[in-house]
Amino acid sequence: MAKISASSLLLILLFVSAAASRTKIYSINNEDVHATDGICKTMVEKQGYACQEHLVTTQDGYILSMQRIPKGQSGEVPDKPPVLLQHGLLMDGITWMLNPPDQSLAFILADNGFDVWLANTRGTRYSRGHTTLSPNKSAYWDWSWDQLVAYDLSATFQYVSDQTGQKLHYVGHSLGTLIALAAFSQEKLVNMLRSAALLSPIAYLNQMSSLLARTAVDIFLAEDLYWLGVYEFDPRGEAVAKLLEAICNKPGIDCTDLMTSFTGQNCCLNSSNSDVFLEHEPQSTATKNMIHIAQMVRNGNIAMFDYDDKDKNMEHYGQPTPPAYNMTNIPNDLPLFLSYGGKDMLSDVNDVQVLLDSLKDHDGDKLVVQFREDYAHADFVMAVNAKQAVYDPLMAFFKLQ
Ligand SMILES: *[C@@H]1O[C@H](CO)[C@@H](O)[C@H](O)[C@H]1NC(C)=O
Ligand SMILES: *[C@@H]1O[C@H](CO)[C@@H](O)[C@H](O)[C@H]1NC(C)=O
Ligand SMILES: *[C@@H]1O[C@H](CO)[C@@H](O)[C@H](O)[C@H]1NC(C)=O
Repeated sequence: MAKISASSLLLILLFVSAAASRTKIYSINNEDVHATDGICKTMVEKQGYACQEHLVTTQDGYILSMQRIPKGQSGEVPDKPPVLLQHGLLMDGITWMLNPPDQSLAFILADNGFDVWLANTRGTRYSRGHTTLSPNKSAYWDWSWDQLVAYDLSATFQYVSDQTGQKLHYVGHSLGTLIALAAFSQEKLVNMLRSAALLSPIAYLNQMSSLLARTAVDIFLAEDLYWLGVYEFDPRGEAVAKLLEAICNKPGIDCTDLMTSFTGQNCCLNSSNSDVFLEHEPQSTATKNMIHIAQMVRNGNIAMFDYDDKDKNMEHYGQPTPPAYNMTNIPNDLPLFLSYGGKDMLSDVNDVQVLLDSLKDHDGDKLVVQFREDYAHADFVMAVNAKQAVYDPLMAFFKLQ
């Protein structure tokens, strides 16, 4: 079987979105934010759950929306600590509610007595505010996941901690795992944390095997100046459609096959739920963030954004190369639950192994590793059997911490 990895998954997400935008599945675009109801109204209350909208301002001025599901459907007051849910790349807080309530992590946690908090990354539909900048300004998009580590994550952690007066559990999917691992490796946030569950963990992105993925990264990096001029990486936008066209026209690359092999790989999705997915996702990110991720694929390390220029790196970091995030510095006593899949194209098993190697000194009773052979990337948030396969063990782990 052909091995497909890393950025090919991004591309597939983009194919889905390009196809969808051609058929006008998207009726709402990002600029309509103020005209649309928030996530509580559109996704939570209609399922019969209470929900609160919150706004959190980061130290660099981004105004993020958060939603709190304070209790389960039964209305019973939560008896367990807060849980912060952090979605992945090109997604938003709706990630955790794409399936019916008995299959979706946000609702399952609420029904099991947890106080649930959803984060929405800067630049996504419900988090496009800023104290001084507008998303139509390039300066608004001058960030990569380094800033999600430094600002978004610390703002949402601090907010939940202040509001509840409690240490929290964290659940990240995909890029939501990378930013947490990066923060923990700097020993940040751990004072507010009970434990962290990492689903489809992304740290190293080194196992590039598909021609398409490599081509995409090459084109992206070769044209990074052009791409930085685009600044908002809108998966539904024209620039991204052109990029896809360029990639798919390269000899030897068959985009149709890739799409097919992708959809075949997630074991347990219910296609009836894909409309919900297409209605709400994918979401914008900064082009600079995409370039940063492409750099990780190229370099095989976990480091800060590379300005590809000694002087510029000096200016930003006081050294000619970007500082590394060192995963061996994650505190050994931090309770971690890590679940990864054998069919995952983004969180490749070999890359996860490199991460596990860097955690080899972790306290044995503080690290639970779960391998789901049949799971691919989207299964961790959308599989019809994810409750039994992943969320029940995850909650059992939380209850021990
Ligand atoms: C940019 O956004 C601001 C505020 O949202 C708006 O007033 C302005 O007209 C926009 N400019 C352009 C060029 O779209
Ligand atoms: C898939 O979703 C549809 C519509 O919600 C539902 O009727 C069906 O039972 C679901 N299938 C599974 C296996 O969950
Ligand atoms: C990470 O830190 C360890 C020990 O502190 C060191 O041996 C290793 O070389 C570091 N790795 C990187 C990539 O800097």
